[in-house]
Amino acid sequence: MTPTEELILRYAAKPVPRYTSYPTAPHFHAGIDGARYADWLAALPDQACLSLYLHVPFCDTLCWFCGCHTKITQQYAPIASYLRALTAEIASVAAHLPASARVRHLHWGGGSPTILSPADMRALGTALKECFAFAADAEFAVEVDPRGLDDARIAALAEIGLSRVSIGVQDFDPGVQALINRRQSFEETARVVAAFRAIGVGSLNIDAIYGLPDQHERQLIATLCQVVALDPDRVALFGYAHVPWMKTHQRLIPEERLPGLVERHAQAEAAADFLVGAGYRRIGIDHFAKASDGLAVAAASGRLQRNFQGYTVDPADALIGLGASAIGRLAQGYVQNETAIGQYRRRVEAGELATARGIALSADDRLRGHAIERLMCDLAFSEAALRHRFGSLAEVLRAPAAAIIAEDRDGLVTPTEDGFLVSERGRPFLRSIAARFDAYIAAPAARHSAAV
Ligand SMILES: C[S@@+](CC[C@H](N)C(=O)[O-])C[C@H]1O[C@@H](n2cnc3c(N)ncnc32)[C@H](O)[C@@H]1O
Ligand code: SF4
Repeated sequence: MTPTEELILRYAAKPVPRYTSYPTAPHFHAGIDGARYADWLAALPDQACLSLYLHVPFCDTLCWFCGCHTKITQQYAPIASYLRALTAEIASVAAHLPASARVRHLHWGGGSPTILSPADMRALGTALKECFAFAADAEFAVEVDPRGLDDARIAALAEIGLSRVSIGVQDFDPGVQALINRRQSFEETARVVAAFRAIGVGSLNIDAIYGLPDQHERQLIATLCQVVALDPDRVALFGYAHVPWMKTHQRLIPEERLPGLVERHAQAEAAADFLVGAGYRRIGIDHFAKASDGLAVAAASGRLQRNFQGYTVDPADALIGLGASAIGRLAQGYVQNETAIGQYRRRVEAGELATARGIALSADDRLRGHAIERLMCDLAFSEAALRHRFGSLAEVLRAPAAAIIAEDRDGLVTPTEDGFLVSERGRPFLRSIAARFDAYIAAPAARHSAAV
């Protein structure tokens, strides 16, 4: 075994969370209900700056690798009835907000929001504008499945103010695509990219995945060559999260054809070298952005943030989640809506907030959550910065920080005056390093995906 292989197995053998929140979602509990959410909404400051996340949990075909909360349907009726509930939820949540709150970011995710009919996209856009006050420069981002996407849908999104898109690619290799049940040509993707550019979308992201079945460095780099040819502003390169105990359809993926941890690490590093060589800055664990892009600018100035959509520059006072399974974050804690679509609909139709679970943040949660977010964004741990924000409470993190430095025989971190910086060698193990500050990690609530 080479030293690098030994290092990967030592650090990454234990699955860890992706830290899009802290505490992570498996620690949410039913003690946080609609009444508590209503109290939290009522306590928002008058001029609150909001970010809205709206979940569309439908797709027309199942990608076998999919880890998202979605339902496959060829019928439009379930989508239409979901939209009626979503529109009712928009009105009911908006009624709890201070009148002068402003929305600065709107994100439609899924599933595939592009499954909506053009008329329903417009109706949803209108409902949102009627219920919430949008800032003049509000950003509107949509997650796009480019397969079969027609001009009418693109035009409808343009009409309601689309400013940013995130396009799913995953891998262009036909062999890999067959094993994940996601057939998507480069030509079709290029057509959709050109159509979004033509309507003036300012920022374009492409999602790709490493660690897929029968995917080797050759296929991955060939895919990224094609991705770069599309000239996206950002690339998100996710490691395939294989969690068949949670997503049972992933059993359709032959496990013996999945790359192991050492191969996954090699793929991720080769992909990062390729993207950096192509002019992209490496951001956090899985994002790449052109130097001029807002994400790279924020990363360079310590303003990068991490939330359920991954890395963001969004500094909102509150993230409001709308739709089945949607997660929100307020100053007091996290809330999550009912996950099952039927149950979500029933709650909304009964005139209730659809909150099913959540967690109220303790002072210790806030401290650790902040330390983990800064680590995931800046690759830095600074006790002085934490002390400045949290006072003497910050001292509880001194021991785990010192242990990380003391135990590091591999150059993963560089000590600083009051903490450490994670090196480029350490970057692939950022989640595992962050987990050392996680007070819940030993709790049996969750099983996670591979750490690299
Ligand atoms: C909601 S989808 C994007 C929009 C659209 N549904 C599509 O697939 O084109 C979000 C992204 O999550 C990523 N993803 C989904 N399942 C994953 C998994 N099991 N592991 C890693 N990434 C995954 C994919 O890159 C996908 O593009
Ligand atoms: S990857 Fe996207 S298109 Fe495929 S099933 Fe998941 S959410 Fe739907």
